[in-house]
Amino acid sequence: MHFNRLIAGAAALAFVSVANASIYKSGSTVEVDGTYYYIPATPVSSLGVGYDQLKTTCSAGDDFIPLTVMTGNFNTFDAAALVSEVSKYTDADDVFSTGFLQAIYLVSSTPAELHASLTSTLAGYSNKLFMVSATSNSSITATSCTSELLTGPYFLHAYTGAVYQAYRLYSDFEGAFTEGTIANADGNFSTMSASIPGVQSPTIGVPSRLYYTKTDAQPLAGVRLGVKDIYDVAGTRRGCGNRAYYDLYPERPTTAPAVQKLIDAGAIIVGKMKTSQFANGEMATADWVDYHSPFNARGDGYNDPSSSSSGPGAGIGAYEWLDLGLGSDTGGSIRNPAQVNGAFGNRPTHGLVTLDDVMPLSPLMDTAGFITRDASLWKTAGQVLYGSNLSTFTSFPKKLYTSGFPVNITSEADSVFFDFVFKLELFLGTNASVLDYDSMWAASPQAVSTNASTLSDLLALTYPTLIGKQQYTLFGAPFIADYEAAHDGRHPFLDPNPLVRWTWAQTNATTLEEGINNKTIFMDWWNSEIIKPDAETCSESLLLYPGTLATPNPRNVYIDPPQIPAGWSVQNVAIMAGVPDMVLPIGQAPYNSTISLHEEQLPVAIDIIAAPGCDALVFELAEQLQNAGIINAPKAGSTMYRREVSARLE
Ligand SMILES: *[C@@H]1O[C@H](CO)[C@@H](O)[C@H](O)[C@H]1NC(C)=O
Ligand SMILES: *[C@@H]1O[C@H](CO)[C@@H](O)[C@H](O)[C@H]1NC(C)=O
Ligand SMILES: *[C@@H]1O[C@H](CO)[C@@H](O)[C@H](O)[C@H]1NC(C)=O
Ligand SMILES: *[C@@H]1O[C@H](CO)[C@@H](O)[C@H](O)[C@H]1NC(C)=O
Ligand SMILES: *[C@@H]1O[C@H](CO)[C@@H](O)[C@H](O)[C@H]1NC(C)=O
Ligand SMILES: *[C@@H]1O[C@H](CO)[C@@H](O)[C@H](O)[C@H]1NC(C)=O
Ligand SMILES: *[C@@H]1O[C@H](CO)[C@@H](O)[C@H](O)[C@H]1NC(C)=O
Ligand SMILES: *[C@@H]1O[C@H](CO)[C@@H](O)[C@H](O)[C@H]1NC(C)=O
Ligand SMILES: *[C@@H]1O[C@H](CO)[C@@H](O)[C@H](O)[C@H]1NC(C)=O
Repeated sequence: MHFNRLIAGAAALAFVSVANASIYKSGSTVEVDGTYYYIPATPVSSLGVGYDQLKTTCSAGDDFIPLTVMTGNFNTFDAAALVSEVSKYTDADDVFSTGFLQAIYLVSSTPAELHASLTSTLAGYSNKLFMVSATSNSSITATSCTSELLTGPYFLHAYTGAVYQAYRLYSDFEGAFTEGTIANADGNFSTMSASIPGVQSPTIGVPSRLYYTKTDAQPLAGVRLGVKDIYDVAGTRRGCGNRAYYDLYPERPTTAPAVQKLIDAGAIIVGKMKTSQFANGEMATADWVDYHSPFNARGDGYNDPSSSSSGPGAGIGAYEWLDLGLGSDTGGSIRNPAQVNGAFGNRPTHGLVTLDDVMPLSPLMDTAGFITRDASLWKTAGQVLYGSNLSTFTSFPKKLYTSGFPVNITSEADSVFFDFVFKLELFLGTNASVLDYDSMWAASPQAVSTNASTLSDLLALTYPTLIGKQQYTLFGAPFIADYEAAHDGRHPFLDPNPLVRWTWAQTNATTLEEGINNKTIFMDWWNSEIIKPDAETCSESLLLYPGTLATPNPRNVYIDPPQIPAGWSVQNVAIMAGVPDMVLPIGQAPYNSTISLHEEQLPVAIDIIAAPGCDALVFELAEQLQNAGIINAPKAGSTMYRREVSARLE
């Protein structure tokens, strides 16, 4: 020992002019009862116990002991109270397991009287160390800590008494994430260094749900959030779905204000999530050259997850341990992944929240929204992100319009769809009618003044013009110039899709001004003539259209080379009019898979369009429909609802 230190000292003297090697601890990975956990490098607290007390309970080599902190008013604490706490934790949290009962620290608001019945129950949990905070009739060492510990699982360092938070590690087996992240004490984030061995996937760490309590100030406390990799998160790189881009730029200095709002409300960023390249539309598999498209967990697991918020969509569809995805929607990039991955998803009213420090596609149409499995969380997250920019309402609209509905019921998906629409009509006390906005346009003075007899004449080229010209100018050209400057004039690799779009934008004579003009004409017409504002209901009417009718879209099919995204459909209404278009998962229906050669279930979803600023109305409607059992919060995984249950009820 002494000899080694002497040598080290001599070496330091001899090479005094050489900089010291820097050693940075990045935490440790451990296994508790077969489950992987991450222990960060920095403790959150420390217990007033040391090696002298712990060596009698710990075996040699036990440097970390799994610990459970229990807080509450435990004036009498007996076996029944212990068992009840344990079952509360097991129900509420996926990080806690009975393996953490090896050490227990009981923090009672009044002096706890420990009952003799505890002894055998504790032994049953393999408990080696039981500590209490307040004086009691126990002979077990009372302890103190440097900062308050919240209920939940931790790791206790046997030699120092330091206490570390426990992160459960999950494998991102569907490829929804680019990397896991962990918050540092200074407000920056680091890439999660832990890795579950042998699963060929990134590893994501999630903290215990027991640490967090939702409050008015922190309505998202403990909500596990994945962020599309076009938003800046301080201390991590932003990749935007392109390898050259990820490589070129350093870690971001700040967190995008939209993300920061969610963090301030208590959300926990667990990772950055995949986007198709530069948030352009890409189909699995041929379009995704730089990275592999995430997998859609629904059905046979081999359907396209859609894009561009593919990562948030696939992750929310697949992982029960992930609560919320922050995506962006310019031309369907939240709505389409939400539909096919079986989740709620919103394209909000344009301009509700700033998109500073976010990669632009077209600032005239870019929006920030969510993908999630729960309508209540969806509403809360919306209130946090859009705040006072949401318009109020006092009752639900009485007018329901439809567009693009199936004519006849020819499949189970159609039945599921119409069953929901029927219940919605009853709920709102109204009957839906078809909105023939194409004919209304053809008869409008605007159709005459623009010489565009159909909306397709007016708008088919508007979307590719706005995204192509704006993204190339604001983002593409500076990126290419930076890359060429750093690589002796070499051009960065671009996936076929953004390449086609950027090339078209540079060569086609159509001007940005013409696109803006056409968009403005449509927006003014739609918002004054079709779905109008209303003082009482915010939106005079709601427009419904089918999001998906359980149509398979297998990812192992070769597709045509990409073209510019020209065309016109009802899904472009919200893009051009700047209005909310929100996806509700309403059921599932069977299809025969060409992959599993078995019947599988895919999502059925409906889209709801409202007047500008009326997002809160649709959030509220979705929550009330969920509370009334008209729709159900979907589960993650292959099937959204456990069919055995409904079959038994029928
Ligand atoms: C603590 O006191 C209670 C009630 O006085 C008694 O039942 C219990 O056995 C005591 N526990 C221990 C560990 O001495
Ligand atoms: C966060 O990380 C960025 C990028 O590395 C750096 O510029 C900034 O100084 C860091 N902030 C803190 C508080 O460490
Ligand atoms: C409302 O939107 C504007 C424009 O995007 C933004 O600057 C402002 O911060 C938003 N307000 C709230 C409360 O989010
Ligand atoms: C719908 O059903 C009606 C009545 O059976 C039939 O006349 C009509 O052709 C069907 N329409 C379509 C689009 O299948
Ligand atoms: C909706 O239509 C049904 C069937 O035609 C009718 O019985 C009901 O009164 C209508 N409801 C409303 C609110 O108009
Ligand atoms: C519409 O067509 C008329 C006749 O061809 C032409 O004079 C006019 O300039 C056109 N207007 C627009 C806005 O293109
Ligand atoms: C704008 O609308 C006109 C018809 O009025 C159409 O010919 C033109 O292609 C449109 N351009 C764009 C960029 O939307
Ligand atoms: C612009 O692109 C559209 C769609 O590919 C094409 O129809 C049109 O001819 C092009 N116009 C010009 C002026 O290049
Ligand atoms: C799947 O195939 C079987 C056998 O051909 C058929 O009976 C069944 O209706 C099909 N299911 C669906 C959802 O198409």
